[in-house]
Amino acid sequence: MPALIAIRGLRKAYVMGDETVHALAGVDLDFQKGEFVAILGPSGSGKSTLMHILGFMDTPTEGSIVFDGQEVAKLDPDLRAWYRSNRVGFVFQSFNLLPRLTVLENVALPLLYRENSDPVANAAAAKVALERVGMSHRLDHRPSQLSGGERQRVAIARAIVGSPSIIFADEPTGNLDVKNVDRILDLLGSLIKEGITVVLVTHDLSVAERSHRVISMRAGLVQEDRTR
Ligand SMILES: Nc1ncnc2c1ncn2[C@@H]1O[C@H](COP(=O)(O)OP(=O)(O)OP(=O)(O)O)[C@@H](O)[C@H]1O
Ligand SMILES: [Mg+2]
Repeated sequence: MPALIAIRGLRKAYVMGDETVHALAGVDLDFQKGEFVAILGPSGSGKSTLMHILGFMDTPTEGSIVFDGQEVAKLDPDLRAWYRSNRVGFVFQSFNLLPRLTVLENVALPLLYRENSDPVANAAAAKVALERVGMSHRLDHRPSQLSGGERQRVAIARAIVGSPSIIFADEPTGNLDVKNVDRILDLLGSLIKEGITVVLVTHDLSVAERSHRVISMRAGLVQEDRTR
């Protein structure tokens, strides 16, 4: 089967005065449908840069990304926005929920940017996603009124509300205690069964052990890629 995402020769350079930082120095990777992948690597090795580019939040300097058969490395901003709201979900370490919106509004937000977006249908879809993560009882809360684990469950609901093919999670358990880490990993693991691909960045080996495949990055390159 062709890969869901095929990455070839991916580079990201940041020019800082007369110094250039090669955040990604030529990455080749394939992600398959339904894979649960963990990405490990020291600070500064390019993990977040890779996630941001694959999540259509940033563009590469060079290289190819074929997403479901389409070359997407150099799309214009409108098409990038389309992929962002229709094909991928993103979960951040610091949750990134909007403080003034309710739980329901936060989760419905990605659907607002879709064509033919309908508020009633959006709210219904958001409720389904919140049910999925066990947060239906907090629809009208603001993020500040939730615990950390609850905030991350809401963020996962926001990531899955648009039925993405793949979820990128950048240290999603970094701010959580052990009990909540387990719950979030169970939740992400359960998405795999529906054929959603999950790519998770972590510093925690016990978190990486829950995945099927561990990729180690170093200095902007894939150093090791191990399927267990
Ligand atoms: N906007 C930017 N401008 C300049 N340099 C950047 C920028 N973003 C990242 N970098 C540099 O690129 C390199 C890779 O950064 P990245 O955030 O991808 O690392 P990381 O592996 O996610 O690290 P951490 O584990 O600390 O989150 C680092 O050296 C960083 O300083
Ligand atoms: Mg990072």
